[in-house]
Order: sequence, then structure tokens, then C-alpha cells
Amino acid sequence: MLCGTFWLLLLLLLPLNLPGTQGHRGAASPGQKAKDSAPWPSIRRLQEQLRSAGALSRRYWALFSCALWPDGCEDQEAPTPPLGWSLPLWGRRSLDSLTKWFCRFQDCCTGGGDCRIANNFTGLESDLRMRLHGQHLASKLVLRAVRGYLELPQVDKVLALSFHGWSGTGKNFVARMLAENLYRDGMRSDCVKMFISTFHFPHPKYVDVYKEELRWQMQEMQRRCRQSMFIFDEAEKLHPDLLELLGPHLEPRVPEARGAESPRGIFLFLSNLGGSVINEVVLGLLKAGWTREEITMQHLEASLQAEIMESTESSFGSSRLVKENLIDFFVPFLPLEYRHVRLCVRDAFLSQDLPYTEEALDEIAKMMTYVPEEDRLFSSQGCKSISQRINLFLP
Ligand SMILES: *[C@@H]1O[C@H](CO)[C@@H](O)[C@H](O)[C@H]1NC(C)=O
Repeated sequence: MLCGTFWLLLLLLLPLNLPGTQGHRGAASPGQKAKDSAPWPSIRRLQEQLRSAGALSRRYWALFSCALWPDGCEDQEAPTPPLGWSLPLWGRRSLDSLTKWFCRFQDCCTGGGDCRIANNFTGLESDLRMRLHGQHLASKLVLRAVRGYLELPQVDKVLALSFHGWSGTGKNFVARMLAENLYRDGMRSDCVKMFISTFHFPHPKYVDVYKEELRWQMQEMQRRCRQSMFIFDEAEKLHPDLLELLGPHLEPRVPEARGAESPRGIFLFLSNLGGSVINEVVLGLLKAGWTREEITMQHLEASLQAEIMESTESSFGSSRLVKENLIDFFVPFLPLEYRHVRLCVRDAFLSQDLPYTEEALDEIAKMMTYVPEEDRLFSSQGCKSISQRINLFLP
């Protein structure tokens, strides 16, 4: 009900502002670009009016202002979608039209969205090399796949990558690195969407609503973005109907008319499926005297795929995405060892501009649990929640 009231108010408020905008623009000196200055006073006024209306619902206000002034949302914890997700569909759509209306005046989300694409492969390569620890396979595979795909002159398909491994091994981290280096606004770009299964699609009984919303989001992105990116975190928990819905989007497309560039899309599926089998293979090889860096995809590929397809607790492996080979690469994330955790601790200190000692690095790295019981080789939480742990060591 609250929502209905808010939109009603918004609709009432909007017409008040339209004449204001026009009037101001009319008054601007001829040489002045209307785009630069004209809408601001009235936008500010609307902002104020919305703010009071927003007292009814801070959530809608936050969503609205984030859509228009993303810079003001810095302090908001990603992911932002949850805010909007609970809005009824029609509310989301009205919000979108409203945003679009505003964006005629501002360089925020207009046209094909291509101005927001960065595709900085140098940055990506350096991030993967310097900030991701212990993942020589994932690092190489992701860079090669993404770069290869984005550098193709023509594409007839999206790129679908499926990341597998225990929690804390860097799947999410790599997804974010991709967003940061491929889009000017990183995770906040209009062309990047992240869905977390337990967060965005928590209740199986609402699957029809989720389907409708997901379908709409995909259409919007396709319409708006020359290059879009979808991240599905906890992909192992995606409802079978949602997986089914994604199928057609991952299939090869009929090539567009010659000359027309078809939109590019990157789909990332993050899951812990196959994590245990990866760990077993790696443990076996290390015990047999191999070094970690000698491990290749050949060692892992077959058993990883078999494990994914045979898993019974998730519908991902039996979905058409996997069965019909719509996933281009299965990317293994290896379990992290003590030395990698130590590097994560160091990075956490550095990222907060804090001084550290070698002893502190050891001490924090030792706080993690290492498995299996006899060898204590792999961190069971990977590099998860390291930054929270370093707080315990601050003076
Ligand atoms: C690409 O990323 C690197 C490293 O983050 C940065 O130094 C460089 O300026 C970026 N290039 C562009 C064109 O943004």
C-alpha cells in the first residue's frame, strides 16, 4: 500500500516539474548548452520533493537516487539490487521510465550504454596476476576466454563461464574484477547485474514472479547495452525454472544482418559444485609430488564435469545449460594453501593502508582452519572474511 501511495505522489509531483524544466531552459542564454545547466534547479527541486515523499519510504528514495546519481551511492554496500527487488514489478517499471526521462538530460544511462564500457585487458591481466592468489588455472582461462570473446569482430553467442570451487577461493573476487575492468562504473554499471540465489530468488513458491522479473531484466539489458554482464552467485541454488529461462539466452543466435553488430553478453555462474572433487584431485597430485603450478586443466576437466553433471542436490548439472553444452568453460578454483591465505592477509592490510608485521601475517593466517585433518593443507574458508580478522590485530 505504501508503495501505491508513493507512486501516486510521484505522479502528482512530476507534472509540477516539467514546466519548470522547460521554463528554465527557455531562459538560458542561447550559447549555453541546455544539457549542462537547465535541468539542475528543477531536478534539485524534484529531489527535495521526492525526499519528502521518500519519508514515506526511504527505500524507494534510495533506489531512485542511486539510479540517477550513482556517485552518491558509494557508501552503500553492494549488491544494490535487493533494494529494488522487493518492489512490485509495475513499481520497478515506473521507476525505470522515470529514470529514463531524467537521463535525457544527463549522461547516465542513455542510448546503447556503450560509453560505459572500458574493456581494459591490461588492468584485468594485472589484477588477475597481482590480486588473485593461487589460481593459475582460473586466471589464465578467464583472461583468455573473456579477451578472446570481446576481441572477436562478430559474435553469434554470449560467453558463458561457470566458476567452481570452495567458498573463499576467489570466484566472486574474479567476477568483480571483470566488472571493474570491463565497465567504467564496475559493479554499479547499468550493464552489470548480479543475482544471488538465496537473496534474489529465496522462495520457490514465488518462482513465477522471479521469472517475470529476470526475463524483464534480460530484455532491458539487451535493449540498453552493447555489452552486458550477468553474474549468478550461488548458481547451484538456482531454481530449475530459472535455469530453463536462461537457456535460450545462452544459445547461439541467428547472425544479425551484415554490418549490424550483435550485442555481446557475458554470463558468469558461480557455485561450489565440484569444489570437493577439485580439492581431491589437487590433494592427490600434491601428495604425488607435483607442484601446484604443474597442475593443468587436463588433470581436472573430466572429473569436474562429471561431478557437476552427476550432482543430485542441485539442478544446475542437469539443466540444459550443462546438458546442451551452453556453458563455454568450466573454470576450477583450487583450494588455497597457507601461503595464499598469508598473501590475502597482506593485501587486506595494504588495502586499508595499515602497517603490518610478518608475525601478524602468520598469526592471522594461522587462525583459519586447515583441512584435511591429517595434512592441514587447504584453508577451509579460503580467504574469506580476512579483512574482518585483521581488525582484531589493530592497536
Ligand atoms: C587500465 O587499467 C590499468 C591498471 O588498473 C590502469 O593503469 C590504466 O589506466 C587503465 N587503462 C584505461 C584505458 O583505463
